[in-house]
Amino acid sequence: MSLIVWFVLAYILGSIPFGLVIAKSMCGLDPRLDGSKNTGATNVARLCGTKYGVATLVLDVLKGLLPVAFASAWIDSDMALSMVALAAILGHVFSCFMHFKGGKAVATTVGAFLALATWPTIIAAILCLLMVWLTGHVSMGSLTLALALPVCMLLSGNIGYLPMALVVMVILFWRHKDNIKRLARGEENPWIKKD
Ligand code: G3P
Repeated sequence: MSLIVWFVLAYILGSIPFGLVIAKSMCGLDPRLDGSKNTGATNVARLCGTKYGVATLVLDVLKGLLPVAFASAWIDSDMALSMVALAAILGHVFSCFMHFKGGKAVATTVGAFLALATWPTIIAAILCLLMVWLTGHVSMGSLTLALALPVCMLLSGNIGYLPMALVVMVILFWRHKDNIKRLARGEENPWIKKD
């Protein structure tokens, strides 16, 4: 299959706003209007409850993982596979099903990188979870993941995925700019279910 077809498929899959669909259908809430106003797993968990957050997390990871995993059976080039991963991530950030708006792309990034370089990504994800546990803020974990991915790619010898990890680091920091401001003010949203 031609590269452009993989890019389009990955973008369309990445665009599916699972968090929005789950929150609206399961608890009748639009996550774009409440909490952090993000459609990601954290805000769905915050607004609707942990199980719906976990469902969003799993589906958002899969929409990054599946296109890259399937594409890797046809594509050998690290750069081309990185572009498929980027297409899924950009789909989440600029969703064609949400007027080209979207989420912060953390889960979709994890999924895409799990398919690119599994063990370095698992290590970055463990560091992310450790930071969430230490600070109580998912955004701190996400920013740790953004920094850890390029370091893990470098240290594990996955140099071919380093440019993509650096691009994603910039995207994740940009998407978390409001979280960074809230963290600096000590006003970051807690990850709790709203009553
Ligand atoms: O993955 C998103 C997370 O880092 C922050 O989510 O809803 O607290 O802005 P939220």
